[in-house]
Amino acid sequence: MNSVMTIYAANLIQFPKILDPRGNLTFIEQERHIPFEIARVYWIYDVPGGEQRGGHAFHKQEEVIIALSGSFDVLLDDGNAQKIVHLNRAYHGLFVPKMLWRRMQNFSTNSVAYVIASCGYDEDDYVRDYKKYKSIVRKSE
Ligand code: TYD
Repeated sequence: MNSVMTIYAANLIQFPKILDPRGNLTFIEQERHIPFEIARVYWIYDVPGGEQRGGHAFHKQEEVIIALSGSFDVLLDDGNAQKIVHLNRAYHGLFVPKMLWRRMQNFSTNSVAYVIASCGYDEDDYVRDYKKYKSIVRKSE
């Protein structure tokens, strides 16, 4: 039996937070705070009200998703169970392992989703069809 990824493998990482009356500061060091080698970062912004982003899984890619500004929800789905994680703190990162279906939704005005990824962009790594995702997950159970 192959190991199956479940929504419980996704977890919230708390980054350091340097409180300062002049404005707070948070930092990330790859080896201390990110559970993989960083290959790429990208960010999603100017999301019109009601739009969704993501809505796929990755064969190999792992990622950490941060609400750098504003808030949004990340829907996680492992083919059996779902959970929604609300991100609204610039010092929290949601670790999303490979082969977990994820979608970002309910973006607040001016929110920024910052994504730290373990792989460069590779369209072949995407599973964009939910039925295909379910069939891959079922085969590995
Ligand atoms: P995509 O990841 O499909 O966005 P979403 O999952 O929100 O629908 O990315 C949208 C487009 O942007 C995709 O066609 C390819 C391009 N893209 C890159 O060229 N490089 C990247 O690092 C990312 C994330 C996307």
